[in-house]
This record gives sequence, structure tokens and C-alpha cells, in this order.
Amino acid sequence: MKTLIAYFSHAGENYTHGTIGYLEVGNTEVVARKIHQMIPSDLFYIDTVKKYPDNHMEKIQVARKEFEENARPALTKKVEHMEAYSHIILAFPNWWTTMPMALFTFLESDDFDQKIICSLVTHGGSGFSNAIRDIKRLCPTATVKEGLAINGDDVNHCDDEIRNWLDQLGL
Ligand SMILES: Cc1cc2nc3c(=O)[nH]c(=O)nc-3n(C[C@H](O)[C@H](O)[C@H](O)COP(=O)(O)O)c2cc1C
Repeated sequence: MKTLIAYFSHAGENYTHGTIGYLEVGNTEVVARKIHQMIPSDLFYIDTVKKYPDNHMEKIQVARKEFEENARPALTKKVEHMEAYSHIILAFPNWWTTMPMALFTFLESDDFDQKIICSLVTHGGSGFSNAIRDIKRLCPTATVKEGLAINGDDVNHCDDEIRNWLDQLGL
């Protein structure tokens, strides 16, 4: 039983603690790294060929266009030996009420049959919105477990919450 943490995250300008600030490390990446330190796992960054703008307002607009067009942004790489993993921790920010469209590309580009998918979202107040529904639709033969939603402002103070969640998942 091996666990893969597959995550998307965007550093740079972001709306955080009520204002636009600059994140050296994206919120989701902070959490993905914590999980990687807590359990035996491999870490995989879901990276797009076309990079998103650092500027927050530009990023918002690019992401909105991708969402409205149901885009599938190309990714730079695939997971090696996906067949080796039984559990996939899928970590992503809420973008426009669901996962970033790069996650749609990721989930459509590999075989998640019989995998156990444990989802984690960082968000600005809306939790998962429609993301779990979309994961289930994209991976109908995977088992999609109870997810964990963490407000982006709380990523540096959520260790206990993460540990409890991993315990509940038996990881
Ligand atoms: C393009 C974009 C769209 C977003 N849409 C939502 C949203 O619909 N609901 C929400 O709660 N937060 C939304 N947010 C806030 C992010 O989910 C939140 O800041 C997250 O922690 C960012 O993670 P990251 O730093 O790992 O990229 C959005 C942020 C961006 C950049």
C-alpha cells in the first residue's frame, strides 16, 4: 500500500488574511508538505505547461476563462508507476467553485480504477464547493473518501486537523 500526494498550488500574489499578499509557498503546498512529513508517501506536483500569472487579478481572470471553457490545461509530466499507489491524496485550492482545471486534466490522464482518493482543499471560505462531485464524476470506479477542507488563512495552524484526518483514513 503506497500513498501518493498529488497537489496543485500557486505561489505568488493571493488574497490572504483580508488583503492581497505575496505567498512564497502556496497554501496547498504548505499542507501537502506537512502531510508528506507525517506519513510515508511520495509527493507529486501537478504542473502546467503554461504558467499562471503571479498577479492575483490576472490569475483570477485566466482561471475563470479556463473554468468557463471547461479547459484541460496541458501538464508537464505524468506520475511514474501510478499502478504502485493504492491511495491518492489529492490536494488543490478551490478555484471558481471546483478544482483548478489542471486537476481535471490530471484525473483524465491516468487510471484511477480501484484507487482510494482522499481529497484536501484549501479555500477562501467555500470549502470544496463542487469539487467532490467532479472528482466522483471523473473517477467513477475509484473510492472517494471524506475530504478535508482548510481555509487558506489557517494552513500554518492545522497540524492537529490533518493528523486527525489521516488517522480517520487509516494512513
Ligand atoms: C483563481 C482563483 C479562484 C478562487 N476561487 C475561490 C472560490 O470559488 N471559493 C473559495 O473559497 N476560494 C477561492 N479562491 C481562494 C483559494 O482557494 C485559496 O486562496 C487557496 O488557499 C489558494 O491555494 P494555493 O495558494 O495553494 O494556490 C480562489 C483563488 C484563486 C486564485
